[in-house]
Amino acid sequence: MTYVPATTLNDSRSSGAIKLHGPQGFAGMRKAGQLSAACLDMIADYVKPGVTTQELDDRIYDFVLASGSIPATIFYRGYRHSSCISLNEVVCHGIPGERELKDGDILNIDVTSIVDGWHGDTSRMYIAGDPPLKARRLVDVTYEAMMRGIAQIKPGATTGDVGHAIQSFAEAHSYSVVRDFCGHGVGKVFHDAPNILHYGRPGAGLAFKEGMIFTVEPMINAGKFGVKLKNDGWTAVTKDRSLSAQFEHTVGVTATGVELFTASGTGRHKPPYA
Ligand code: MF3
Ligand code: CO
Ligand code: CO
Repeated sequence: MTYVPATTLNDSRSSGAIKLHGPQGFAGMRKAGQLSAACLDMIADYVKPGVTTQELDDRIYDFVLASGSIPATIFYRGYRHSSCISLNEVVCHGIPGERELKDGDILNIDVTSIVDGWHGDTSRMYIAGDPPLKARRLVDVTYEAMMRGIAQIKPGATTGDVGHAIQSFAEAHSYSVVRDFCGHGVGKVFHDAPNILHYGRPGAGLAFKEGMIFTVEPMINAGKFGVKLKNDGWTAVTKDRSLSAQFEHTVGVTATGVELFTASGTGRHKPPYA
């Protein structure tokens, strides 16, 4: 695997090499990450039974544009919305639409905004009304799994360390880790090298270096890890129709550890947000 300083190449292209970013990149990612996080803070007040997922997406569009940014997902590979909203058994890439939220629904809202070319990619789980205990438990374990994975990150640690921390915690709760989607390098490119798997063995995979920027975004299923794609070409659902949950942060590797670019500025890290 090759590592290259981000400034020595046209950094809006994905070359397959892993980009190592400097202070400018980190500053850009802080702005983009904070905007996306603020958008997820904002939307929490509107997630309730009766609202449609399209209404939520419209609010996200308005917020991101009013903040002087644009949603990266609009026109991304033919996608037409400002967010992905994934309900209950939807694993990821749920398309906003006329579906009304019902009491007890759990949903992931995933937003990527672009500021000065930098992409801040983050998602959180939300709960409409009063969910069954098993749904709340899945959401809590998924958040904790992501944070345990992120806590592994520092120069010299590996992608396998992150994957193992996530997988071992999820499986200890009898949940499973989705294999078909992974975290990714991000920066001026939305989806870049390397892939960040959410399962693995300690010490396996690629070693982190200072300056790497990527997402950690585990999808955890209450049942088995199998996923199937719906006919719309986007919506991924659990094969066994079990509930699925996901959180996502964009992070950067520092000299001694990790920086979260997409942390909530208002303490709205996980539900309940009230
Ligand atoms: N934000 C998603 C991710 O975490 C990607 C969404 S691409 C879309 O990587 F086209 F489905 F919106
Ligand atoms: Co992502
Ligand atoms: Co995302």
